[in-house]
This record gives sequence, C-alpha cells and structure tokens, in this order.
Amino acid sequence: MALTPSHPFASRLSFFTGKGGVGKSTVVAALAVEAQRRGMRPLVVELGHRASMQAVFDVPHIGHAPVEVVEGVHATNVELDRALDDYVRRNVPVRALGDRIARSESLHRFFAAAPAVGEVLTLLRLEQLLEHEWSPILVDLDATGHALMFLGLPSVFDGLVPDGPVRRLLDGFSSLLRDGERSQLHLVTLPSPLPVQETLELHATLEAEHPIRLGTLFVNRVHPPPLDAAHLAQLPSVVATEAAAEDLALLRAACERDVETTRQLARLDAIPMRQVRLPLDPPRRDRATLGRLGRLAALEDAP
Ligand SMILES: Nc1ncnc2c1ncn2[C@@H]1O[C@H](COP(=O)(O)OP(=O)(O)O)[C@@H](O)[C@H]1O
Ligand SMILES: [Mg+2]
Repeated sequence: MALTPSHPFASRLSFFTGKGGVGKSTVVAALAVEAQRRGMRPLVVELGHRASMQAVFDVPHIGHAPVEVVEGVHATNVELDRALDDYVRRNVPVRALGDRIARSESLHRFFAAAPAVGEVLTLLRLEQLLEHEWSPILVDLDATGHALMFLGLPSVFDGLVPDGPVRRLLDGFSSLLRDGERSQLHLVTLPSPLPVQETLELHATLEAEHPIRLGTLFVNRVHPPPLDAAHLAQLPSVVATEAAAEDLALLRAACERDVETTRQLARLDAIPMRQVRLPLDPPRRDRATLGRLGRLAALEDAP
C-alpha cells in the first residue's frame, strides 16, 4: 500500500526537530524499530555532541560506524573528527599528504572553532550514508535553532564558496532538500504552551525561508481525556461516598489538564501538516515500549 507522502517512511531521508525534551529522540528511535518490523533497513543518525541514542536504546556506545542497537536497527553518531578525516582524505589527491593533513591537530582545532563546519561535515557524512542501503535514514536534528542552521547551510554559503568539493556538496544538499520524494522534515512537540508556541513560530519560519517538504507533526505525550462515558455514568455513586474528596480533587486536576491540552491541540491544528498524536507511555526504554510507540507513530492515515 502506498504511504501518504508526508509519512516518515515515504522518503529515504527524514529529519526531526523540536524543542528540547519533547521526545524527538524517543520518536526517532520508535520509528526505527517500527521500520525494521516492516522489513526496512533503518538507520538512526544523531549529531556528535548529543549522544542521547545510547540511553534511548540502552547500549554502551554509538560511534562513527553504524552499530546494531536492537535487532535490525542501526545507529550512528556523526563524530566530527572522523568526518573531517574522511573529508580531507577524499579531497586531497595525494594520499600521504592527505593523511598528514588529516592528522594535524591544529587543523582539527581550527575546524572545531569555525562556524558551520560541523554542519558541513555532517552533510558530508550523510552523503556517504546515502550511498549505502539504509532506508529510511532518520536524523535526530536536535533543537530547532540547530535544525534551522543546518537546513539553511546552502543559502548561508551562497556566493561565498567557490567551485570545488564543498560547493558541490552544498549544491547536492540543496537539491536533496528541495526534493520532497527524497527528504522531508518532521516536527515533534507537546500539547503545552511553550512547545506549541515554538512549533508555531518554527513552522512559520520554515514556510517562509526553507524549501524542504514538511512531513508529519508528532504531538507527543497527549494524555487521554480523564473520563470516558462509563466513568461518567459511575460518577454520581462515587460522589455520594465519604472517601470521594481525594478522588474528586484528582479528577478535577485531570479535567483542568485536559482543558489545557485541548486548547493547545487546537492551536496546533492551525498548522497545515499531517498530524500524529502519541499517548503518554511509561518512559521505560525497552524494546516493547519503543515498538508500541513506533507502531502508533507510523500508523497510516484513516481513509
Ligand atoms: N510518549 C512518551 N511518554 C512518556 N515519556 C516520554 C514519551 N516520549 C518521551 N518521553 C520521555 O521524555 C524524556 C525526553 O525525551 P527525549 O526523546 O530524550 O526528548 P528530546 O530528544 O526531544 O530531548 C525522556 O525521558 C523520555 O523517555
Ligand atoms: Mg534528543
């Protein structure tokens, strides 16, 4: 069955961003587990400075080379030093010279300090990973500010980088971003005021300034309504008992939270993106929990 175009498995490369703590890494990991269940070869990519996938998958180390984190799911951490070595070795035609440059400590220090070099090297690494058979490649882009900088790389460097390997890399990235069949950007948020505000602003910025296709808006940790019809029917008899005061206080708090959630969901509905709501799950990080969340996150749209 064909997937909706904005489904995270509909394109080879999917980027994810959103405010810190909203559940990006969890959603990315869960989707990877689900992709594997569907027979795909998913790869989770995260950027060097974070290393949160180790905790999410409960593995000791994720490095430059993709490692299997759970059965059939691989993850890689873009280590900038390694990416820089690869880059120099590929682009300096004389092997011994390339090796010497790549080993130079001052070069590494220089690149570590230079703005956006980390992002350019990340691109380079992505380009390499795309040459292999991974699909989907799910990139945890981390906080929104970083994501905007990353997606904006081609325009930041426009006119500044002469013809050469970096120019070609940026041009390649630019056309990758413009090709909605190959790449898209998904947003993750929570139904609470600050993440919602940030998501609305991010969406407006993306629409105005970035040509990438917007995929799915994941609204994570949506509490179910506190009362269903059966509970409601029982309410009069519960209220009549002495012990009801505490329960009623809890119920009242839950209802207030539900009113707030509903208000925030209505604000998010104004964003014209495919939306998937995910429940609050016990934050255990075992495979079964990730698998359950992944199935929900990857559900096809109702016809
Ligand atoms: N649906 C969920 N239900 C319960 N806890 C969640 C859910 N999603 C994420 N969490 C928890 O919230 C915390 C932040 O999640 P994480 O994926 O690290 O966020 P981010 O990558 O956006 O910073 C983690 O402790 C994670 O286990
Ligand atoms: Mg994270």
